[in-house]
Amino acid sequence: MKRILILDFGSQYTMLIARRVREQQVYCEIWPCTRPMADIVAWQPAGIILSGGPSSVTEAGSPRPPAEVFELGVPVLGICYGLQVMTAMLGGEVVASDTREYGKAHVHVDEASGVLGRWTADAEQLVWMSHGDRIASAAPGFSVLAKTHDGVVAAVSNPERRFYGLQFHPEVAHTPGGPSLIAAFVHDVCGCPNAWTMAAFVDEAVAAIQAQVGDEGRVLCGLSGGVDSSVAAALIHRAIGDRLTCVFVDNGLLRKDEAADVQRIFGEGMGLPLITVDAAERFLTGLAGVTDPERKRKIIGHTFIEVFDEAARDLPHTYSFLAQGTLYPDVIESVSFKGPSATIKSHHNVGGLPERMNMDLVEPLRELFKDEVRELGVTLGLPGYLVQRQPFPGPGLAVRILGDITAERCALVREADAIVREEIDAWPGHTALWQYFAVLLPVRSVGVMGDQRTYEHTCAVRAVTSVDGMTADWVDLPHDVLGRISTRIINEVRGFNRVVYDITSKPPGTIEWE
Ligand code: XMP
Repeated sequence: MKRILILDFGSQYTMLIARRVREQQVYCEIWPCTRPMADIVAWQPAGIILSGGPSSVTEAGSPRPPAEVFELGVPVLGICYGLQVMTAMLGGEVVASDTREYGKAHVHVDEASGVLGRWTADAEQLVWMSHGDRIASAAPGFSVLAKTHDGVVAAVSNPERRFYGLQFHPEVAHTPGGPSLIAAFVHDVCGCPNAWTMAAFVDEAVAAIQAQVGDEGRVLCGLSGGVDSSVAAALIHRAIGDRLTCVFVDNGLLRKDEAADVQRIFGEGMGLPLITVDAAERFLTGLAGVTDPERKRKIIGHTFIEVFDEAARDLPHTYSFLAQGTLYPDVIESVSFKGPSATIKSHHNVGGLPERMNMDLVEPLRELFKDEVRELGVTLGLPGYLVQRQPFPGPGLAVRILGDITAERCALVREADAIVREEIDAWPGHTALWQYFAVLLPVRSVGVMGDQRTYEHTCAVRAVTSVDGMTADWVDLPHDVLGRISTRIINEVRGFNRVVYDITSKPPGTIEWE
């Protein structure tokens, strides 16, 4: 299969380039720009994209691709820093500029060829710029295809060698004509057909799982009910049938009806061999009296590993493989020039299990982005609502109960959460939201119901939009929806007498409260 290699120079948009290439049904991978040339040659890319990045080629020690990238005989597209590094390495001149150009700009297209081949000549295009340095003179053999009104070189080409460069970012939504540039590069210049489809991926992934696991091997899969583990399980089941066993741990911190739903959908519906372990009491005992958010996460993580390990030991067969729903964004070796970042929250999924159980990992989703996983789920016949589910954190309701976690508080937040979801689900705007849920605050306040004084807990409602969970905005929910949520929680969930709405974005807040 013809595929594209993206060499990453640390741009915040590199993953978007990969998304745009895959939207053209062309497979691509992101590698750090420091990967040795031998690996690149062996991978046989049909074309190479050099990403943007925060460095300046005018500074000593700025990152470079191996020089042989330009001798490989395949097309190269440099984007922003990628264009500058290509220009500098091939004999052109890049100058540092006093001012940064950041934001929307209009470029005039002089020649619509090569990577601009799907644009129109002698016309304007709106693009997104984000750069300090600029091209003073293009490298020998290159001509300028487009410029901004201020004369900044916006696009260059060397058609003979099939090298192209863009000063702006075609991968971001603010460049409306960006997809047709990417399409022109991958299809017209590199000759990649539309071969990366989910149906093709399923065939490939099934064959890869079969090859890895062999004819006798058995795979254990921790099913959480979330999108990733569900899709991974369905895919592995297609590859090896009943040699897959799924283990669902009910930690007592799940959403309303979750355990029954998982049993119904996967066990009865899809016929997956499924074992449910009811460990609610064990988790709650471990969490008793613990209020520190990080300690809660650690306890839940350890308890999960113990419970899972014990369940596996009780099974009649030996399992040498453990399935994990790792996605591509977790796999990409990030090229960060900023050093280690602070741990805000220690995310818990099944980390630590493979070492303890001495099992090999089966990670069939390693190459996929979240939306591709959803598409794969649909291709595999999973129900739509399951595939479109909101993310639910591994530690479950525990991170939505501030302070002590008790069975009673779990029940309270679970009921309130069901109401929040029901009411927002009924609002047509809900499809654009990332997550919405209830949080229990251990703050009591005075209220009056009927003629009685009440002194109860507070329920916070949170609803956010987000693209990837890294940043988020609070949602301006219609007042009638908020009103219904409030009335229903107060009337139906005994234990709350006050409802507040969280209007904090991320940053500075996080999506979950703990
Ligand atoms: P925060 O609260 O860090 O959450 O803004 C970002 C996204 O991650 C989810 N989340 C988790 N997911 N295990 C997970 O699989 C975890 O431990 C975990 N903690 C938070 C959260 O729901 C949001 O979508």
